[in-house]
Amino acid sequence: MSQFDTLFDRKAGNARKWADSVLAKKFGLTPNAIPMDLADLDFPVAPPIHDAVMARAAVSDYSYTYIPDAFNETVIAWNARRFGLELEADWLKLSYGTVPTLHYIVQAFTAVGESVLINTPAYDPFAEAVEHNQRQLITSPLKLENDRYVFDFEDMADKMARPDVKVFILCSPQNPSGRVWTAEELEQVGDLCLQHHVLLVSDEIHRDIVYPGVHFTSIWQACPAIRDRLAQQFAANSITSPNSFAIPALIAAYTKCDAWLDEMVAYVADNFAYLRDRLAEIPEMQVMPAESGFLAWIDVRRLFADEAELKRFFTACDLSCVVGSYFVADGEGFVRLNIGMPRPLLKEALDRILAIYATWHQQEAPVPK
Ligand SMILES: Cc1ncc(COP(=O)(O)O)c(C=O)c1O
Repeated sequence: MSQFDTLFDRKAGNARKWADSVLAKKFGLTPNAIPMDLADLDFPVAPPIHDAVMARAAVSDYSYTYIPDAFNETVIAWNARRFGLELEADWLKLSYGTVPTLHYIVQAFTAVGESVLINTPAYDPFAEAVEHNQRQLITSPLKLENDRYVFDFEDMADKMARPDVKVFILCSPQNPSGRVWTAEELEQVGDLCLQHHVLLVSDEIHRDIVYPGVHFTSIWQACPAIRDRLAQQFAANSITSPNSFAIPALIAAYTKCDAWLDEMVAYVADNFAYLRDRLAEIPEMQVMPAESGFLAWIDVRRLFADEAELKRFFTACDLSCVVGSYFVADGEGFVRLNIGMPRPLLKEALDRILAIYATWHQQEAPVPK
């Protein structure tokens, strides 16, 4: 039995994903629902992080902090050890999250009215970072080839050639599909951005959860002029010192959790294989193969007439999900399910899907496509 098999009560920790009020209001579900929407993990935090935060809490001083040397040193060591990246402490900047940082980047490197390019389907906050700042969103749909997403380089080149397009935000690995881009693909993306003088921004938040046997390539490059401009934007947003608990948590995560993470990633990869196995019984639910992450991206175009029917299906299962239209564009007809949970819970969720599916066609008459 794996440590990740144990069910963990997330209602106790005010987890938004598990809040009865949210599940009822947003999805019409019961307190018995299994949430599969929001992208966080239903596992307890790695024990070394727990211990470090508890030890810090015992020191009754939660006042102003500073960035201790160990904070940056552990980030540098993690990047070297896990990804072969050579970073310097000077290049690291504190920020309060990836999505806020995308907002600061849009503010720093584009002017009001200029445009930002993204691929679709996309994590919705990519569009928000652009639109919250009165910039224009330009989208380049990913193409489906042999059941995998690939870049449409021709379309991207056309769009980058527009004089108003200043920034391209790449999602690597890709959310919602878990696609890990190859070094060759990334090189081509980099070449296009260089050729069209478009700033390349790579959101690599999912890079730590890449399945065994898959190689992740970072697109990271040093560029001092750009760093300074972004640092000014951080200053303009008053980013000063880390939260008291962030310091020990980060240091513990990046020094003591390699083994925990490797085990967790292998567990999630097995969850993905298990999901594909079980859903193979539903030919109209096509799970896109993933190479990373804990999100399954499923083509349900042949099963449901429209998104309203998809929602009715998952409500009948007492499961929450993210419907395809959430992903800016080109996600219609798909559903995203979070499978980063103990396997007994995943089994229960899949049992519900298969049980409701067994009678669905008797209840609903889908429009043939
Ligand atoms: C691609 C991507 N970027 C950013 C985030 C969230 O980042 P943060 O919580 O650091 O703002 C997510 C969360 O799912 C994500 O999928």
